[in-house]
Amino acid sequence: SEKIAPADTCVLVTGGAGFIGSHTVVELLQDGYQVVIVDDLSNASARVLDRIATIVGEQAAANLTFYEADVNDRETLTKIFDAHHIDRVIHFAGFKAVGQSVSMPIEYYANNIGSTLTLVDVMRVHGCTSIIFSSSATVYGDPDSLPLTEASPKKPATNPYGWTKWMIEQILTDLNTADPEWNVVLLRYFNPIGAHPSGLMGEDPKGIPNNLVPYVAQTAIGKLDAVHVFGDDYDTPDGTGVRDYIHVCDLATGHASALAWMNGRTGVEVFNLGTGRGTSVLEIIHAFGRACGKEIPYVIEARRAGDVTSNYADCSKAKAQMGWKARYDIDDMCHDSWRWQSTNPDGYEG
Ligand code: WQD
Repeated sequence: SEKIAPADTCVLVTGGAGFIGSHTVVELLQDGYQVVIVDDLSNASARVLDRIATIVGEQAAANLTFYEADVNDRETLTKIFDAHHIDRVIHFAGFKAVGQSVSMPIEYYANNIGSTLTLVDVMRVHGCTSIIFSSSATVYGDPDSLPLTEASPKKPATNPYGWTKWMIEQILTDLNTADPEWNVVLLRYFNPIGAHPSGLMGEDPKGIPNNLVPYVAQTAIGKLDAVHVFGDDYDTPDGTGVRDYIHVCDLATGHASALAWMNGRTGVEVFNLGTGRGTSVLEIIHAFGRACGKEIPYVIEARRAGDVTSNYADCSKAKAQMGWKARYDIDDMCHDSWRWQSTNPDGYEG
């Protein structure tokens, strides 16, 4: 994998119209990369493309190409690789609803594993062997000890979504074993929240949100009545679950750091992307209340099946090797999330 300058580097971003993908695309365009997005828009809006262009400006936006396509569509993906000299791939595309994965295991395995296999096979045919994969802290399951380092035991949570993340890490590792030219970076995200500080991009979940912060944001704006807190009897300071929430723009710079770091290397490397700090559900609700200037109503409910008590990352490896660390705190995350929610109450389609 030869060393190339950003302006001469073309990065294929699967799922680049989604929440983390779109923020990463902005970061890459601002760094001067050429970017090709492949996204089937099954869980994203084409309107994000105009927002990306507004943020980065006309000149950088000229370096972006968008294809509405399924990564598992080999014929179309082949045409895209024929049309562009793709140097590196960032693979975000995939189904990500934990609960849905339990009731639709076939769809989750077929989509997440199938599209990854199609992608890496088309990459191989085109001599592209450089990939960054969106993995998840879910591979650590219920931790024995905290903070979680990359070497902590892996025991994916008992849902197909988590298993696909862990299986794809293994597939990409096996690729490098078979051909050491492969250059693989596995990024394990903790809990991504927040939105672009411009207010132009953010998370736009379809239907009632599964994740905490989108649910809190929609409660703050009055679309939902009250946050349901899933358990206040955990072994944590206030009894509610603790997570390592990370600003989506910090994740975006994490990908840019990984791209720069992997330049000229081969091998497999894994990095946690988190802040290293744990925050409880009640702390999030109160921080969001400060951000939007009103108290967020909530009710305590039973624990949600499959939830772990606490997790947070040891991010020292990403700092030491890639020179990356998270910059935003919980108040920043809530402010940016509220700016996005309040100025785009119905998301991109509003
Ligand atoms: C956070 C905390 C809940 C909703 C999931 C995936 C993970 C990753 C991110 C996804 C927990 C509590 C939540 C609510 C609540 N990838 N909660 N009321 O479960 O840590 O991680 O999303 O693509 O793989 O598992 O995130 O935001 O759902 O929950 O009290 O309405 O908030 O119990 O303690 P989670 P979350």
